[in-house]
Amino acid sequence: MNKEYKLAIVGATGLVGRTVLKVLEEEKLPISTYKLFASSKSAGTKIKFMGTDYIVNELTENSFDEHFDFAIFSAGGDTSKKFSPIASSKSCIVIDNSSAFRMDPSVPLVVPEVNSEKIKENKGIISNPNCSTIQAVVALKPLDDKYKIKRIVYSTYQAVSGAGKKGIDDLNNGLKGLSPTKFPYPIINNCLPHIDVFLDNGYTKEEEKMINETRKILGKPNLKVTATTVRVPVENSHSESINIEFENSFELDEVIETLKKSPGIIVQDDVMNNIYPLATNATGHNEVFVGRIRRDFSVENGINIWVVADNIRKGAAANAVQILEKLL
Ligand SMILES: NC(=O)c1ccc[n+]([C@@H]2O[C@H](COP(=O)([O-])OP(=O)(O)OC[C@H]3O[C@@H](n4cnc5c(N)ncnc54)[C@H](OP(=O)(O)O)[C@@H]3O)[C@@H](O)[C@H]2O)c1
Repeated sequence: MNKEYKLAIVGATGLVGRTVLKVLEEEKLPISTYKLFASSKSAGTKIKFMGTDYIVNELTENSFDEHFDFAIFSAGGDTSKKFSPIASSKSCIVIDNSSAFRMDPSVPLVVPEVNSEKIKENKGIISNPNCSTIQAVVALKPLDDKYKIKRIVYSTYQAVSGAGKKGIDDLNNGLKGLSPTKFPYPIINNCLPHIDVFLDNGYTKEEEKMINETRKILGKPNLKVTATTVRVPVENSHSESINIEFENSFELDEVIETLKKSPGIIVQDDVMNNIYPLATNATGHNEVFVGRIRRDFSVENGINIWVVADNIRKGAAANAVQILEKLL
């Protein structure tokens, strides 16, 4: 008889948590029991899931006294830091969407298309990378395998949903002329070169995350990477311009074919017909869209690409559910 698995979904009322529920409905995994958790604020809320009304429970230190095989956490770093170790100490494998454990050398940082082999090294917690990193490495990995990446320059155009429900509120309220509460300046008519907090070295934490997580996921600790991350007035799906320098020479046609054949990627690159990836088209999909693939004529072996993905799906919920699928 097949084992019946139990899954806890922590942060089930949030943007990512609700999308986790949506993706789980689509994927139909062999899980027999689900339990939804959030803070005391949302305890008692009803959420329709798998055709049933589920009651949201308050997450407490005793929540994992009941056995769960797996938990998907999407409730912020502080909640993960406090409750993930409690869950994993009770034989529950945690897939964590926060940044709490991503750079912990003992915690695998996984994008299934890139490094699913790391999943089996887990000691009870598996980290889901930052949304902007996930979509980038899906496109970079097949190119690194073939041409050996020497240097990466990231410039991102990130949607307000990347800042959770409050980010979307700032966009919608800003359209009505109201002041922002999440972002330091109005997001309407502005691009804010400021995601997460500023560090002493002048970079933001988001930029540092992209740099360090890329190195960890690609298994290249000394890779040259730099990043500028920007919040733009787009509701959902992050767009990224990525400049890549390779050690090896390449044919552009071959680069395009490689990307087309790689898992999780849809190439949209027909500029003569105005075909390139767009945020509005990526939203609702689990794939990473790649276009504007062209040679960088300023260096010997370089290209520029434009990479767009749904930051709540591939950037968080769908990636977490893909990891769960591999565990199952
Ligand atoms: N948005 C993205 O693009 C994205 C991408 C990748 C990763 N992430 C990460 O995913 C996590 C969730 O992000 P989000 O965008 O979904 O945020 P969100 O919309 O603000 O949702 C936050 C969720 O966390 C819950 N929560 C807060 N404090 C809690 C506590 N003490 N105990 C239990 N639950 C608690 C909230 O429950 P209540 O309803 O009770 O407040 C809500 O369900 C964050 O760690 C974020 O960094 C987000």
